[in-house]
Amino acid sequence: MDTLPVPAARPAGLEPPTGAELPTAAELAGYVVAAAVWAPSVHNTQPWWFSADGREISLYADAGRQLPVADPRGREMLISCGAALFTARLALRSLGYVPETSVLPDPRQPLLVARVSWRRRAAATGYEQRLFGQVPLRRTHRGGFDPLPLAPEFLTALAEGAMRDGAMLRVIAGEGDRAVLAAVTETAEQALRADSMYARELASWAPAPGSTRRDGVPYTAYPARSGGTRPHFAGRDFSHGHGWGTAQSGPGAGPRSAGVVCLLTTTGDRPVDWVNAGQALQRALLMGATCGVAAALHSQPVERARLREFIRTQLGGGYPQLLLRLGTVIQTAASVRRPPADVLFAGGGEHLSMGGR
Ligand SMILES: Cc1cc2nc3c(=O)[nH]c(=O)nc-3n(C[C@H](O)[C@H](O)[C@H](O)COP(=O)(O)O)c2cc1C
Repeated sequence: MDTLPVPAARPAGLEPPTGAELPTAAELAGYVVAAAVWAPSVHNTQPWWFSADGREISLYADAGRQLPVADPRGREMLISCGAALFTARLALRSLGYVPETSVLPDPRQPLLVARVSWRRRAAATGYEQRLFGQVPLRRTHRGGFDPLPLAPEFLTALAEGAMRDGAMLRVIAGEGDRAVLAAVTETAEQALRADSMYARELASWAPAPGSTRRDGVPYTAYPARSGGTRPHFAGRDFSHGHGWGTAQSGPGAGPRSAGVVCLLTTTGDRPVDWVNAGQALQRALLMGATCGVAAALHSQPVERARLREFIRTQLGGGYPQLLLRLGTVIQTAASVRRPPADVLFAGGGEHLSMGGR
């Protein structure tokens, strides 16, 4: 992350610590975690918790929130934690602190995803502030896009961004390859729907309308009926036959553009690669959001080992971690998060007072 002046405007709900003095370590930790919880996570499991100790925050994966059926290796859990890590680093940068990060610092503690500390200060860049402004506003899109092309320079910038985080974002432009990925996604979705354990697991993370839960995918986050995309990229069955979801607005009910299809990949397939992929994912999503570009995410094809291997060998470019579709669209989705106080603990294990000195 590079460096520029801190603008006055901040995203709603993420008010920086105020006052003449520099914020205390506890105030900083509260602010960082309040931002980090807005990272995307598989099924909005929010599989993380944080501990703060002086000028250091540790990010842990919460194995109790792992998806044992869909994600037995914890790959998607660590991608989600990587997205939270990127957001935490960005929050520090937004206040002019320079984060020092060590990823998976202790082999004896595989759930300790990262330690982030800060000592030095350097003003945040305009790029960092723009990304940070989108943290609570960005939403996952589910459905098709306007038939508008995306600027090649924008796609190049996304790819360069992913490389900075140790991952690759590859545009799959050929009609044949797009059709193959659409077919593989459909095959995966059908296989997952036919798996009763998987269907039960998904249902447990897709609460009914009226639920007061602050995790899982609420009905406000997906359309009741999607007109589909061309080619057809199957979506998750969050409403599992109940017809939940929001009413479709915008142009007619027919299929819309699938958008620009991309694969997020890594050269290795170890936990550190998954964390890198998560950091790259959140950077790409926030970069898109600053330009009015939304993203639909599909992890169904990479949850089936054989299909994932098929993508790796047929389309090359490393281990596929996630499939993204990018495009412009008017978004109406709304999501939920657990309050930061539920996931932030002091070094000794107690809950940390967010505002206290
Ligand atoms: C690793 C990972 C996999 C995901 N897979 C899917 C998916 O297959 N389908 C989908 O609709 N959303 C997927 N998502 C998006 C999450 O459902 C979304 O981030 C979460 O519900 C929170 O909503 P928000 O992104 O709008 O804040 C995925 C996110 C991550 C990080």
